[in-house]
Amino acid sequence: MTDKSAVIDFVLNGEKRSISVPEHTTLLDYLRDQSLYSVKNGCREGDCGMCTILLDGSPVRSCLLSVSDVADKEVLTLEGLNENGKIHPIQKAFVDSGAIQCGFCTPAQILTVKALLDRNPDPDEDEIRTALSGVMCRCTGHVKIIDAVKIAAALIRGENVESINIIEKELPDTSKKIELPEAYYRKNGETQTLPPLVYTPKAMQLLKTVGKPELKVDGNKLAKGKPAFTDDVYMKDMLYGELLTSPHAHARIKNIDTSKALALDGVHAVMTYKDVPRVKYATGGQSYPQPIPHDQVSLDDKVRHVGDRVAIVAAETRKIAQKALKLINVEYEVLPAVLDAEEAMQEGAPVIHDEEDTEGIFDAKHNIIYHIEAEVGDLEKAFNNADHVFTGEYRTPKQHHAQMEPHVCITYWDEDERLVVRSSTQVPFHARRIIAPLIGLPVKQIRVIKPRIGGGFGGKQEVLLEDLCSHLTIETGRPVRMEFSRRQEFISTRSRHPHVIRYKVGIKDKKVDAIELKLIGDTGAYATHGLTVQMVGGFKGLSLYNAPNSRFDCDVVYTNTPVSGAYRGYGTMQETFAIEVLLEEIAEQLGVDVVEFKRANWLKVGEPMLLSSQLGEGREGFEQTMETSGLDDCVNIGLQAMDYYKKREAFKNQKDVVRKGIGMGVVMHGSGIAGLDMAAATLKMNDDASFNLLVGATDIGTGSDTILAQMAAEVLGIPVEDFIVYSSDTDFTPFDKGAYASSTTYISGGAVKKAAEKIADQIREHAAMMLDIKDSNSLILGDRRVTAPDGSSVTFTDVALNSLHNKDQHQIMATASHMSYKSPPPTAAQFAEVEVDTETGEVRVTRLLMVVDCGRVINPITAAGQVEGGMAQGLGFVHNEETVYDKKGMMANARLAAYHPYKPNEMPPMDVIFVQTDDPSGPFGAKSIAEISIDGVAPAVVNAVHNAAGIWLRDLPVTPEKVWRMLHRS
Ligand code: FES
Repeated sequence: MTDKSAVIDFVLNGEKRSISVPEHTTLLDYLRDQSLYSVKNGCREGDCGMCTILLDGSPVRSCLLSVSDVADKEVLTLEGLNENGKIHPIQKAFVDSGAIQCGFCTPAQILTVKALLDRNPDPDEDEIRTALSGVMCRCTGHVKIIDAVKIAAALIRGENVESINIIEKELPDTSKKIELPEAYYRKNGETQTLPPLVYTPKAMQLLKTVGKPELKVDGNKLAKGKPAFTDDVYMKDMLYGELLTSPHAHARIKNIDTSKALALDGVHAVMTYKDVPRVKYATGGQSYPQPIPHDQVSLDDKVRHVGDRVAIVAAETRKIAQKALKLINVEYEVLPAVLDAEEAMQEGAPVIHDEEDTEGIFDAKHNIIYHIEAEVGDLEKAFNNADHVFTGEYRTPKQHHAQMEPHVCITYWDEDERLVVRSSTQVPFHARRIIAPLIGLPVKQIRVIKPRIGGGFGGKQEVLLEDLCSHLTIETGRPVRMEFSRRQEFISTRSRHPHVIRYKVGIKDKKVDAIELKLIGDTGAYATHGLTVQMVGGFKGLSLYNAPNSRFDCDVVYTNTPVSGAYRGYGTMQETFAIEVLLEEIAEQLGVDVVEFKRANWLKVGEPMLLSSQLGEGREGFEQTMETSGLDDCVNIGLQAMDYYKKREAFKNQKDVVRKGIGMGVVMHGSGIAGLDMAAATLKMNDDASFNLLVGATDIGTGSDTILAQMAAEVLGIPVEDFIVYSSDTDFTPFDKGAYASSTTYISGGAVKKAAEKIADQIREHAAMMLDIKDSNSLILGDRRVTAPDGSSVTFTDVALNSLHNKDQHQIMATASHMSYKSPPPTAAQFAEVEVDTETGEVRVTRLLMVVDCGRVINPITAAGQVEGGMAQGLGFVHNEETVYDKKGMMANARLAAYHPYKPNEMPPMDVIFVQTDDPSGPFGAKSIAEISIDGVAPAVVNAVHNAAGIWLRDLPVTPEKVWRMLHRS
């Protein structure tokens, strides 16, 4: 295809343009070259919709158009929406309603909504959902986006609308009979979005800023599509890096010839295993020391899965770099591959890690990386004495994160000859430590900048591009940008560990007396999070019911499939699915009420978690006791909101083709890794009494920047708007372990609270001097003022100016660190309603409700957004999301369209109710929220399918084929 230049006239954001560019330049590339960074690249395949712009008023995907397609037409990007910088009502509605999480999809959503409202100012819910179905969102579950559209429509129609609303209620002494606001019963199957409902026990004091639905501190910039993300910069002389990946599941590289690629005009570097030092490491961004085995090198002479790294190229343009990849001649010796974990353990299976320099593999010959055992009590005796023994085998899929922003990294030398790594990472500090030996630089010569992240969910807890991009910058001396294609996202990044789960449960006097959990975890071609995810699976899978006699027996196994790693839910959700379904089955067989059966057995306040010291994360843990739990209340409230018992009875023995069902699962998670996670925060007062809040914590769309500011604001008695939050940069922000393990609110929040308390003391001390008061502790902070008992006062600005310029000059500033030997579990009850088509096997989920205790809710809107997004991903896990491979290990559905995350017009209504508890170790009583939200959907849906159709589904996802086969077994 020749790529001639042509003159093209069109209107861009209201301005006439006449340009000459190569005809086949995509509109996406052209617009981003023009610094219109609101137009995002999510897939370049027309699937995700991130690159949506308006062409003559209609939403189109700019990656599918060439510039010549817009001749004589009008193009509008988000940058063109703001007249004189004024925020558009749609943007305002997105900010006000909490519709923005990571914000990567937001520009495309807003333009799509504009097109909808331009043609129909009063759309109904179905029209909104259909219109939005062209733009994916992996964070939100679409709930608050739908809300935002309704609010925007009303604003544009000139109506008065209340934006953010939550409903707050006092939790009565007994939650067994509680009067919920009418809408939460969804009696007639209404589908409208509902505000989060927050129940607070009488004894819990309400606070001023914490607990309030404060707007996101970064909402406006994301709504305006400002250049906040890793790729939204222009670097002079930047080269484009590309990665050549393996087409084979298992092969040795016999020969690799890069000469033709190197000879191509515009190519500056081609690197293979011959060009980089062989330094062993593990890609999982975890605390030091990372668990062994360290079984990877930057580039190897053996490939172990389709998508594995082979070579890297840096060139003047992406096209040249991609062309160069095709000119690299690789001669492979193809080896037998094994794709199934149980087969991989068999005698004679291909040995995936036969290299001599990997230490710490438990049994390399049988591809077993780790064998984990933990036990309490006397299991054999308990099973012998049991009244009943039940077993169940369950299988869970390899789910992929599918975050909208691909992994992307830009590296360059700064003026001090230090290497700057600008990366879309959840773990900037771990990334710096991990890549240092790989690229041969000391840690102090590397600076990692984490800009805004377009979703991570654990996938960016891995160090995947940073070393490769750095190698190319070191080789060429030029800035280099590398980004995974969407196909590479599926095959070269990480996904959830598939599990084979075998439970054996002994019942004595209707109590769970013994549980054995045998687990096989498939970690794919490299170990990375293999140890930690599976240990968490064992701990959580045995601790919710905490039987006095428990045993965990686990093999973590290599296969020639793309690597498994950290993914939201991290071990917990697989085992929660299995135990919650098995206990439902046991209760049915025993003829007892399942809710009361579970209630009698689940972990209660004051009870020690029996396996907590044996099963930490990658090492021994610390003794844990349940100190707070709202689980009883969560279950009680959910039962009433769902009308569970009445429906459950009514749905039994249906004869219709389409049958309804209702189900429940209870869940428990953790808050950070006890004794390991640490975070620090720095606060600094400025002349105008604003504060810089510098945190190493990484907001990946969770809203952590906002809730951390709320905590500081609460301590200092000032509004959130007084904080300038910056996260994170290894040069300028203090250490934080990063965004994972549900630790940010609990651990990073603890650091912020401590830093704010130190600042409060410093402000009091300086104000005492100004007011001539002896006891600074007698001073009260509030309303940006320091007030003495005698009524005299100074403003925060007085204190700031005086301390910086006038008397006893010093900088009011503090840094604090926080860690905890506790990891208090949030708890929740998850409910689902389904319809099962008995002729096609199709399962349709018609309602999800999560009632959750996450301690004190710091921000009900961002927290509800986390729950909705978690439920949406949990729905994918149980219902349809799975990476599928052919016999040669080639992924068959490595496109977003084929993988199919749920679209807004496919989502059920999802409701969130909070039951607050006051955790003694959490900042302001907070526990975690991000991960528990995904854990319970699978068992709730599977139990609902059983209620509807009488079958027990044990193999996820519940595809129509599997359901149909179960229904029509002869
Ligand atoms: Fe939609 Fe993150 S907010 S993808």
